Amino acid sequence: MLGKDILGLRDLAAEDIDEILSLALNMKKLLRQNIKKLPHLMGKSAAMLFYENSTRTRCSFELAAKYMGAHVLNLAVATSSVQKGETLVDTGKTLDAMRCDVIVIRHPMGGAPKLLAQTVQAHVVNAGDGMNEHPTQALLDMLTMRERWGDVKGKTVAILGDIRHSRVAKSNLYGLTKLGAEVRMYAPKTLLPPGLEEVGAKICRSREEAAEGADAVMGLRIQLERQHAGNFPSLGEYAKYYGVDADVLKYAKEGALVMHPGPVNRGVELSSAVIDGDTSVIEDQVLSGIAVRMAILFLLTKEEVA
Ligand code: CP
Repeated sequence: MLGKDILGLRDLAAEDIDEILSLALNMKKLLRQNIKKLPHLMGKSAAMLFYENSTRTRCSFELAAKYMGAHVLNLAVATSSVQKGETLVDTGKTLDAMRCDVIVIRHPMGGAPKLLAQTVQAHVVNAGDGMNEHPTQALLDMLTMRERWGDVKGKTVAILGDIRHSRVAKSNLYGLTKLGAEVRMYAPKTLLPPGLEEVGAKICRSREEAAEGADAVMGLRIQLERQHAGNFPSLGEYAKYYGVDADVLKYAKEGALVMHPGPVNRGVELSSAVIDGDTSVIEDQVLSGIAVRMAILFLLTKEEVA
């Protein structure tokens, strides 16, 4: 049974991940049938508190909540009292006083969702915190894999690119290894944080080694907003040595899934041909995103539904 909040996959039990994915798979089937009017969150309210830009995460949380009948509050941080100096904790207390049942937060500081969760009564869902975690992205990635494979256990997932700044890579590492998959990682040395092997990653010396026999190859967005130094020589060299293209996919299993959390820098992290290729599941990841977020919003609040 899930706890009060979803803050990351590092601390989420495999059984909880399994419960979310099982329900999300059913939600995804409904979405495929264009069923977008469900009663699961009737009378509930969900606040979107995004201190960083977002398209996919914010829109899919909003749609997930609306498809299940919730009231959605979009707090525009740029025009809110945050700009007058209000702290995160005080903003959270204000949303609590307004009887928000769930607060979905994205914040540039790792740990901000945890701080909020300790302060408010509302359920808090981490929609990405700094370089720490992006749990719902990893869950939607796992849902996309599970739908095709039945199970991720025994599968191999190669993750290429800017691992250091990527909360997506870290949440996928925690989640996939908990479910029994092998996670291989390859990044420029400047973009590879220490300690990944201790939490289950297999660090590779080339993108070809990472992709060899892999069931899925995942590119990562270069987080230009989080780069403070020349961590790689040029975008062209990044694409050549750390990007996903047809050359590297030759090493993967035939039909290996091509994945990316988005937004993609075309021609850098993934070649255009690969993005639009037959084995790309990038658009399906977006649909999985709504399903996973529907499942999470329901599971967190269900004990309160009359
Ligand atoms: N994958 C992801 O988090 O995308 P957004 O930044 O558009 O939400």
